[in-house]
Amino acid sequence: MSASEQKRVILSVVGTRPNFMKVGPIEESLKQHSSIEHVILHTGQHFDTNMSEVFFRDLKLRQPDIYLGIAGGLLGDQTGRIMVALEKELLQLKPNLVVVVGDVNSTFASAWVAVQNHIPVAHVEAGLRSFDRRMPEEINRICTDVICELLFTTHPMADEQLAKEGVDSKKIHMVGNIMIDYLVRYQKQAEAMQQWQALSLPAKGYAIVTLHRPSNVDVPEQLKKMVGLLGELSQELPLVFPVHPRTKKNLELFGLLGTLKNNQKISVVEPQSYLNFLSLVLQSRLVLTDSGGLQEETSVLDIPCVTLRENTERPFTVDFGTNYLVGTNSDKVLAVCREILAGNSKTPQDFSKWQWDGRTGERIATHLVEYLRA
Ligand code: UD1
Repeated sequence: MSASEQKRVILSVVGTRPNFMKVGPIEESLKQHSSIEHVILHTGQHFDTNMSEVFFRDLKLRQPDIYLGIAGGLLGDQTGRIMVALEKELLQLKPNLVVVVGDVNSTFASAWVAVQNHIPVAHVEAGLRSFDRRMPEEINRICTDVICELLFTTHPMADEQLAKEGVDSKKIHMVGNIMIDYLVRYQKQAEAMQQWQALSLPAKGYAIVTLHRPSNVDVPEQLKKMVGLLGELSQELPLVFPVHPRTKKNLELFGLLGTLKNNQKISVVEPQSYLNFLSLVLQSRLVLTDSGGLQEETSVLDIPCVTLRENTERPFTVDFGTNYLVGTNSDKVLAVCREILAGNSKTPQDFSKWQWDGRTGERIATHLVEYLRA
C-alpha cells in the first residue's frame, strides 16, 4: 500500500450508557469505507454489566478495541484520569481524527486531550445548551464545542446557537439525530418483545420513571421530594422505575429505597437493556424523566414526556415534540400528568424533516471521510 493509499485511523470514544447506541451506527457506516480503520475506545466511565456490556450484546456492537477502565471518583478526578490514560493511547495509536459523542465527562476529557495533541476532533450532538452552568454536562458541552473541528448538530436551533457563539459555519453540519438511528431500526423488534407483560403492567396504562441528575438525586431533601411525588403519582397509575446506579446508591444512603419498594404500585427494577427499555416505553402512557436523550426519543415516538428539570438543552422537544418542561414542584408535575392522563397531550411534529430518520450515522461517516480526504 502506497503512502497515499494508507488507511486513515478514526478513534471513537464511548464511556457511558447513552454513548453506545450513538457510536454503533457510525461504526457500521464507517465499515463501508475501505480507506478508514475505525478504532473504538471505551473509557470505562460506566462499567456495570447492565450499564455497559448488555448494550453491546443487545445492539450487536463490536467490542471496544481499547478499554481504559476509568470509573467513579469526583468530576475532576474522573475527567483527569481519563485524560491521562487516553493520552498514552493517542500517542501510540496516532489517530487522524477523534470522534466524541454527547456531553459526558468522557466526551470532554477525550476532546481536550486529543486537541492538545494536535488531533482534530468531531463532536456529535454539538450546539446543545441548557444555559445552566451548574450542570456538569453544560460545561462539557461548551468546552467540547469550542475546541472541535467538526460539529455535528441535530437541529437548526443548535446551529443557531453555535453561530451566536462565533463558530465558523464551515465546521457545522446538521446531520440529524444519531440517537434515533437505532430507535428506527429496533422499534419493531422492541414492540414484539412486550416487556410490559413481563412486568405485569397494563398496556398503555403505566408510566416510566428515570432519574439520575445530581440536582435531583444527590441532595437528600430533593430525592425525598421525588420519592414523595412518585408515591402520589402511583395513586393515579402504576409506575416502573429502572434505577440508575447513582440514584440507587443515594436512595440507600438516605434511607428511601424501602419506601419505594414497599409501594405495590411502583416496580423498582434494575437499569434495563436498550431493547427492554424501548419495549417498555412503547407501551407506556407517559414518561417522567430528567434524562436528555429520552426527551428526544419520546418526541419521535409520540409518547408524552414530563421532564423533571428546570431547563433543557433540547428545547426543540418542548416546542415541536411531546416534552413538558415542568421542573420538580410536585403539584405542578401532578397537574401536568393529570392533564396528559385526561387525554390532553401535545401532538408532535414530524421530526424526520430535521433528518431524524435513522440515517444520521451514514451522513456522519461521509463527512468524516470527506474531511480526512481534504
Ligand atoms: C453520567 C453523565 C451524565 C449521563 C449519565 C447517563 C457525566 C458528568 N455525567 O452520569 O451526563 O446522563 O452518565 O447515565 O459524565 N456507577 C456504577 N456503575 C456504573 C456507572 C456508574 O456504580 O455502571 C456509579 C459510579 O461509580 C458513580 C455514580 O454511579 O459513583 C455516577 O456515575 P458517573 O459516571 O460519574 O455519572 P452518572 O451519574 O452515571
